[in-house]
Amino acid sequence: MKPPRVLVVGSGGREHALLWKLSQSPRKPELFAAPGSTAIGKLADCHGVDPLNGPAMVELCKELKIDLVIVGPEAPLAAGLADGLEAFNIPVFGPSQEAAKLESSKAFAKDFMKRHGIPTAGYESFTDAARAADAAAELELPLVVKADGLAAGKGVRVCASRREAIEAVQDFMTKGAVGEAGQRVVLEKCLKGREASVLALVDGERYQVLPACRDHKRLKDKDEGPNTGGMGAYSPLPDFDEKLLETVRREVLDKFVKGIRADKLKYRGVVFVGLMLTEKGPQVLEFNVRFGDPETQTLMPLLECDLLDLLESCAKGRLSAAPIPVKKGASVCVVLASEGYPEKPITNRRIHGIEGAEAELDVLVFHAGTRRTAEGWMTNGGRVLNVVATGPDLARASTRAYAGARCVDFEGVHYRKDIGAAPAK
Ligand code: AMP
Ligand code: GLY
Repeated sequence: MKPPRVLVVGSGGREHALLWKLSQSPRKPELFAAPGSTAIGKLADCHGVDPLNGPAMVELCKELKIDLVIVGPEAPLAAGLADGLEAFNIPVFGPSQEAAKLESSKAFAKDFMKRHGIPTAGYESFTDAARAADAAAELELPLVVKADGLAAGKGVRVCASRREAIEAVQDFMTKGAVGEAGQRVVLEKCLKGREASVLALVDGERYQVLPACRDHKRLKDKDEGPNTGGMGAYSPLPDFDEKLLETVRREVLDKFVKGIRADKLKYRGVVFVGLMLTEKGPQVLEFNVRFGDPETQTLMPLLECDLLDLLESCAKGRLSAAPIPVKKGASVCVVLASEGYPEKPITNRRIHGIEGAEAELDVLVFHAGTRRTAEGWMTNGGRVLNVVATGPDLARASTRAYAGARCVDFEGVHYRKDIGAAPAK
């Protein structure tokens, strides 16, 4: 059999981790990336095509005779990349544009959850700024104000006071703080508890669950400082047992699959369920229609199966009902970020010590924002490197990840020291 030709869309740490795992497939696939990165270039043949340019992506896939496309980020899915490829019979792992609204529109996602009885916080959505401000002045505090559209982590504010809530509405709806994403807002009841991420592969009919994971979104230790794209993650979770997983299956994932079928949403890809574990049980905060970042970097080293078989069977609607084989033990991912992240990251600084980190026991380094010059590796983004380690338990995985992280140095490097410890709240 000819080796399959697989293209991964994206350029960050998540895509690096997916390609690392795909490169271990016994089927020896030929790997491609668009646009990829210097680090990804060690595993895949990179093509500088813009994933948001659908026709150019179709051309590229035809030219390269791609057998399977795996889409990393949400933006190309929201722009209809999966639909564009499928029109040319190119198998793709990633949902249709309509289904991607489950991430690209909070109001769409909330209405979906309500319609299908999926537990989530009570909400109202608004397209009129004055009405939204009136509601923000009346609804119970704390109140969560969410811009409807994709806002790169800047579209959600948990507001303790009226003033903050009204200000959030104005920022989103009248001041254009998050652009078009803020033309509609959702006002939502605030939930209390610990958060958890559950990722499941969905082939339209069936689903298979990955181990529960938790990311740390705040910049600083003890969950302080501003929100970021994610400063680290760990898996499995000591506070997520079989019973809780059963509840999430019954209350969320079973209903999700029924819901996409009932609503005729074409969904072959991964659903990332952001949960709040409340006293009354798990409630859905959000759906993402793609792999999490840095959850994926954390989970890939735990998988004990061929990722290519898994994603291909999902993309072709032939997912198995068997559990996904995973290693015993735990995984911890520490994100190394640039000075000034998340507001104004300072880039183009020389990175030392990546090889040293990779030589540490059970440590992998995935590149989130780097580039290679004649001098060596340089920082090239807010989140720079993901240092991931596995170990027999969370404590040892964390010790190993930090042993790796300490090997790396660049001016202004910042990382949290408490990834893998239970969250403060
Ligand atoms: P989202 O993009 O909807 O996941 O929101 C980003 C973050 O805002 C979540 O990870 C939570 O920390 C917080 N958040 C969102 N919705 C709520 C809610 N209803 N109650 C409390 N916190 C929330
Ligand atoms: N780790 C959160 C996300 O990928 O959206």
